[in-house]
Amino acid sequence: MTIQELFKTLGLTQEQPGGGLSSATWSRTTDAGIVESRNPSTGEPLARVYGCSLADYDALVAGSQEAQASWRMVPAPKRGEVIRLIGQALRVHKDALGTLVSLEVGKIKAEGDGEVQEMIDMADFAVGLSRMLYGQTMHSERARHRMYEQWHPLGVVGVITAFNFPVAVWAWNAFIAAVTGNTVLWKPSPKAPLCASAVQRLCNRVLEEAGYPGVFALFTTDRVELAERMVRDERLPLISFTGSVPVGRHVAEVVGHRLGRSLLELSGNNAVIVDETADLDLATRAIVFGAVGTAGQRCTSTRRLIVHESQYELLVPRLLSAYAQVKIGDPLEPDMLMGPLIDGEAVACYLSALEDVKKAGGEVLCGGCVVSRPGHFVEPTIVRAQNHWDIVQRETFAPILYVMTYRTLDEAIRMHNAVPQGLSSALFTTHLRNSETFLSAIGSDCGIANVNIGTSGAEIGGAFGGEKTTGGGREAGSDAWKAYMRRQTNTINWGTELPLAQGVTFGR
Ligand code: UN1
Repeated sequence: MTIQELFKTLGLTQEQPGGGLSSATWSRTTDAGIVESRNPSTGEPLARVYGCSLADYDALVAGSQEAQASWRMVPAPKRGEVIRLIGQALRVHKDALGTLVSLEVGKIKAEGDGEVQEMIDMADFAVGLSRMLYGQTMHSERARHRMYEQWHPLGVVGVITAFNFPVAVWAWNAFIAAVTGNTVLWKPSPKAPLCASAVQRLCNRVLEEAGYPGVFALFTTDRVELAERMVRDERLPLISFTGSVPVGRHVAEVVGHRLGRSLLELSGNNAVIVDETADLDLATRAIVFGAVGTAGQRCTSTRRLIVHESQYELLVPRLLSAYAQVKIGDPLEPDMLMGPLIDGEAVACYLSALEDVKKAGGEVLCGGCVVSRPGHFVEPTIVRAQNHWDIVQRETFAPILYVMTYRTLDEAIRMHNAVPQGLSSALFTTHLRNSETFLSAIGSDCGIANVNIGTSGAEIGGAFGGEKTTGGGREAGSDAWKAYMRRQTNTINWGTELPLAQGVTFGR
């Protein structure tokens, strides 16, 4: 499919209106700047997207509020039915959307398609959830009283997403927010405005046909002032933010100050521990996928490898030979395993991390160079390093794997936990006690802890998120829906007396 055909299929144009989209119509402000979408594989522009003005933004929020006023009274299973139809539309366009993800952010096609599948899975999950928004009932201490709790929508949910999962992370938030009765205002990464536009257009077509315009709205901007306005906006009771720790900290402070809610999914510094009993075939495959997949640009990418000293000489040569076979190039070509980094800035971060590694005394075991061709390609890199080095303590969004050795599991877990972040973790072992130790309260301190599975590629059915500077938020499956609702405790007196709680008598 040519780019022109792809754009046509997805309703995109080279001069893409992006100022704000809620129903079928885009605002077409031209005085709020242009966001340029570029192909990271070539560095060439793909399209120019109109930025959103302050007036567009205010109109969108007002529209989202208005839509929510009626959407909240649509029964949840009916809301689920609309999301089911959205899931169907995504299935129809999976190939084209997967290609667009690959084109705009440089993931290999299989991962682009996987990301769209993640949206479809999320839609299915949300449909089921729409009939399972359970509250508890309690036995009242008072005669002829009934107590229960129920869950109500919050209002308009603000969702800010990153370039690396330009559509799936929105779907985690948006589909759950929608079945729970909220409307959603989305600010996608300015590095991936086309993916966002295409998905939004598709979803909004379904919503309009079903008679519910305005449930999802989108605005495109690369202006910090407008993002700031959104975070400060008291009309948005919840801000879900995916991105860096410094920005996440700012979001938490600003939203906290207005006593709103924030849901944060920030950096990871994910490690795989390989113990003395591990199946090295499994471990090798998982480490390569985790460290090289998405060119190391997942929050869950494997960044540290903590290997038992008896396995180092066996595992590292396997990794080096696997790395040597990684095909780097146009992510849309079959058999490619690694595409480019998102932009020149990301390449500069990769190089500066490697400078820091060298200064700290690290040894580059493979990779370490920019690939000389157009676009932002770098080599996947393995470095012998030490856990306490500043550079190892930080998240660099690039395919750099830091390798270190350990002697005892206690030592491995200590090293594992001795970073500021706490997103995803994995142990490769065939030893029951090691496995249970790793998963126990004295084990991994992350939000995600796996055994004989790598750190990345989580299923949507579980709650996704992490501890410490990762921000504590949980999204997608399990009971993550509760973050999008307010809990109300109800006590109903169906008797003729008015007994007070705690046996208090008052007056007569
Ligand atoms: C992210 O990198 O922000 O677990 C999300 C995974 C994906 C989601 C990653 N399902 O790698």
